[in-house]
Amino acid sequence: MSHHFEKLPIALDVTHLEPNVTQEMIAARQPLIETVDAELRSGKCRGSGFTGWLKAEEIMTDSDRARLKKTAERLSNETDVLLVIGIGGSYLGARAVIEALADDPNKVVYAGQNISAHYMTRLRQQLHGKRVAINVISKSGTTTEPAIAFRVLKDLAGVEARSRIVVTTDAKKGALRQLAQKEGYEAFVVPDNVGGRYSVLSAVGLLPIAYTGIDVDSLIKGAGDCAQLCATTNNPLENPAYFYAVARNVLYKQGFCIEILASFEPRLHYLAEWWKQLFGESEGKENMALYPASVDFTTDLHSMGQYIQEGRRILMETFLIVDEDEPSLKIPAGDDTDELGYLTGKEVRYVNRKAYEATARAHRDGGVPNLSIVLKNLSPYSMGALIYFFEIACAISGLMLGVNPFDQPGVEAYKKVMFQLLGKPGFEKLESTIHEPRYVNF
Ligand code: PA5
Repeated sequence: MSHHFEKLPIALDVTHLEPNVTQEMIAARQPLIETVDAELRSGKCRGSGFTGWLKAEEIMTDSDRARLKKTAERLSNETDVLLVIGIGGSYLGARAVIEALADDPNKVVYAGQNISAHYMTRLRQQLHGKRVAINVISKSGTTTEPAIAFRVLKDLAGVEARSRIVVTTDAKKGALRQLAQKEGYEAFVVPDNVGGRYSVLSAVGLLPIAYTGIDVDSLIKGAGDCAQLCATTNNPLENPAYFYAVARNVLYKQGFCIEILASFEPRLHYLAEWWKQLFGESEGKENMALYPASVDFTTDLHSMGQYIQEGRRILMETFLIVDEDEPSLKIPAGDDTDELGYLTGKEVRYVNRKAYEATARAHRDGGVPNLSIVLKNLSPYSMGALIYFFEIACAISGLMLGVNPFDQPGVEAYKKVMFQLLGKPGFEKLESTIHEPRYVNF
């Protein structure tokens, strides 16, 4: 491929954005970008108390990171599996990196991201006889889903619980902090000024990531180098994260209302899950924003591909492509009844690449403007850069829209009603729209 990775392991292919998004349109947003960039960096933007992630290399001190790596290594040596208990920003970042990079992603399992008795029962069966470490992660310490999962599954740590349970939570307050102090569990901090969905490069993400043997220093270095470049210039034609933020803003203003993140690499499935949370929770407020959706290609070309090609024209698409990573695997000779003779001896990755190029063209022709974020490779360094790329693009994009990209007031709505339905003390008299159930029986 003809991408040049000079300053960053990330390149953009903008071929299929035109005619909806031109370089002139991007350049025309420069004054707005300058304003929001200055607000973000001077601590004057909406939600400015939660911009601790901006300096990626300073989220954790060197000594805290050294302690974290030591703990991760000890747990990895002493146990077979790490059970991560957390929801939303407290688990998606770690899972995204682990699924993409770990030699054995199955060394980490997850709970507390749902309230399914079936899921937790199966997990218990699956972990039977294994040496289990637990990292329970919750900034508030009181989120219902992980709190239930921790109660239900805590015993899996066995008699060594004290040394095998590690807590990641607020520095001072909250139920988990108290519990850690009472039980003598080792604890790591979710920084005050970093919200859940921006916390993957803090202990929240780094402990599970380090447990699988991924080089967390390279991850942070990649993020740090991306941070440095993004701080050097706010010109979207020189700053790929700002370009991305502006391009999606231009399309949103033209009436596009869904952004699909599409990958041809199954290992990136959870990166897309993390990305959806990042953008959905940061921007989806005040009746605004692109709805972030994701697809796994070519799998979903045989399902959602139809809609994308010919359904309602409200879609823009962002391809997440890895430039060089897939191993060599050649298509062997066969009897050609499958009509594959013309591909004999060709690399599977070559076919996957052509599938991507064809899809990007066909979708553009079908009225879906798209751009590609091309990652140099799937390494910890590149992944760190990509994480930071999306974080700062999201912050800038949200600020361009005029929302606070760092709060999530809407998440409270279901909780209040659920607490009322469950009879949680203090929620009895809440004003809500609870209706008498009405069923249609057949
Ligand atoms: O991004 C966020 O802030 C949320 O998704 C939180 O991470 C999620 O709700 C979990 O919160 P907590 O870490 O307090 O349990």
